[in-house]
Amino acid sequence: MAVSEDAIQGSGAEPRASLIELLKRMQETHGCLSQEVLTKVAAETGLPLSKIYGVATFYTLLTTRPKGRYRIFFCKNAPCHVRGARRVLEAIVEYLGVQPGETTPDGLFTLELTSCLGLCAVAPAMMVGDDVYGNLTPQKAMAILEDYRTRERNEHAWS
Ligand code: FES
Repeated sequence: MAVSEDAIQGSGAEPRASLIELLKRMQETHGCLSQEVLTKVAAETGLPLSKIYGVATFYTLLTTRPKGRYRIFFCKNAPCHVRGARRVLEAIVEYLGVQPGETTPDGLFTLELTSCLGLCAVAPAMMVGDDVYGNLTPQKAMAILEDYRTRERNEHAWS
């Protein structure tokens, strides 16, 4: 993907927002923002690698390391916490067998803690990829993740 400083600066758009958008597109194309990808962005935009790396590592939705097929963003903020998020998270950790920040051995899920998802009205909440889920209980969260596993198994069965 060819990139240019013009693409980042946009036509009057806020430069940082344009850089984030560009990095999101690069991540979609390459799977993650590896050192190689960031170096390419720096070379083609003329922006300092340190600035690009800083943005790539600051935002939860951007990642410099390969992730699972589905990224689980689990809200760790107070409104979710007071409505039982800790018990839900414990259940997810036990179900997946990984700690926050880790990826399941089958490469299907990466569990990540995140700040408020804007879903406080239905706390506790999480996102799996782009899908949002609220009013979670341990049982509901595990059923949701089991659905993804079942879907995955069925896709492989037919391919
Ligand atoms: S605090 Fe959890 S979604 Fe807002």
